[in-house]
Amino acid sequence: MMANDDRWWRPWRETAGVTILHVDLRPDADHEERAFALLDVEETRRARRFVVEPPRRRFALCRAALRISLCERLDCPNDQLSFGYLEHGKPFAEVNGQRMPIGFNLSHSGGHGLIAIAARERLGVDVEERKPGRNFDGIGESVYGLAERRLLTQAKGVRKAAFFYQLWTLKEALIKALGTGFTLNPSTFEVPEPMLHGKASSRFRFPHQPEDSWQLIDLGEPRFAAALAFQL
Ligand SMILES: CC(C)(COP(=O)(O)OP(=O)(O)OC[C@H]1O[C@@H](n2cnc3c(N)ncnc32)[C@H](O)[C@@H]1OP(=O)(O)O)[C@@H](O)C(=O)NCCC(=O)NCCS
Repeated sequence: MMANDDRWWRPWRETAGVTILHVDLRPDADHEERAFALLDVEETRRARRFVVEPPRRRFALCRAALRISLCERLDCPNDQLSFGYLEHGKPFAEVNGQRMPIGFNLSHSGGHGLIAIAARERLGVDVEERKPGRNFDGIGESVYGLAERRLLTQAKGVRKAAFFYQLWTLKEALIKALGTGFTLNPSTFEVPEPMLHGKASSRFRFPHQPEDSWQLIDLGEPRFAAALAFQL
């Protein structure tokens, strides 16, 4: 097993029984070599299909960190762990071909990855690295709902950028927890009102599925915006 000092990921947050790891995705030849060695045949094939290097690196470093973290939780060797995929591509864990009752989700952006792991199965995490100087005017018409768009239009400068990233990650964490990804049009639901006005967490229900209740948590920090959602 890999010593803690050799790892490119670290425990970052622990909230409501969900462990969140931060993965360092900056270029590092040694980390990348060790990450690739942990991937299975299908993952290696997938990694090779990336035509440019940064997404290949992000995939390999995150997937390898996920593998080790799940193996430790499930007490199994890496070569017995594999991934199955739900309809819209959300991965789940299998050991010797049998689906495991563990929830996880991961996200990568720039130099940062986040992996959320919990006993509860339906969860989603999203991270977006903050890029200074990005112009947000006109972006998001198809992503945000009415109240969200109104507040985005009113916000100016640094506040506008922060708000844009915050809303984006909150909404993406929800559609990743649900498993649909962007096959569900994100303008059909809105971030709960209290979170539009600064509250760090709130309950949420999708308008098309009001029977299920979700917890939504803003995990943003200066380096990146991030959010976690899980079913209650
Ligand atoms: C899920 C989705 C929002 C992720 O967007 P992204 O910009 O790649 O964002 P992130 O970095 O935050 O997340 C990527 C990770 O989410 C996970 N993921 C993939 N599909 C997912 C889904 N439907 N729901 C939740 N998580 C998913 C994977 O672990 C993936 O990491 P990997 O590619 O390294 O394995 C986007 O891929 C999507 O909308 N997918 C559904 C649409 C679809 O069917 N696409 C075709 C692919 S099968």
